[in-house]
Amino acid sequence: MQRRELFRMTIGAGALGLLGVMGLRLASHFLPPPPRKLLIKERDLPANGKVKVGEEYFLVRLNDGRLLALSRRCPHLGCTVNYQPSGQVFLCPCHQSRFALTGAYLAGPAPRGLYALKWKKTEGGLILEIPG
Ligand code: FES
Repeated sequence: MQRRELFRMTIGAGALGLLGVMGLRLASHFLPPPPRKLLIKERDLPANGKVKVGEEYFLVRLNDGRLLALSRRCPHLGCTVNYQPSGQVFLCPCHQSRFALTGAYLAGPAPRGLYALKWKKTEGGLILEIPG
């Protein structure tokens, strides 16, 4: 192999590598960021019939003991939904969409209920996934 040929191959491999890196960086702009994971300790989980209000989530312990994790982002235009303990509902302050404790749609312009968040039980609590 001549030096000139070796030089061409090295430059070609370098250019391909650079294109690959640039392609990966470009693709990363179009992919959703990975979800953030929050650890909620066992002692911070709500009791039966109660709701824990986080910055971006609701944790709802239904009367039968089932635990639900719901996003606070309104499915209408994305406002932050609040909990109304007196009415046992979630209410969006922007256009007054209402949601049941299960996250089901009740009223207002929202096209659907609140988004369910993924969570999994872990030692000492649970890990909640907040979409990026
Ligand atoms: S953003 Fe919630 S009802 Fe419009």
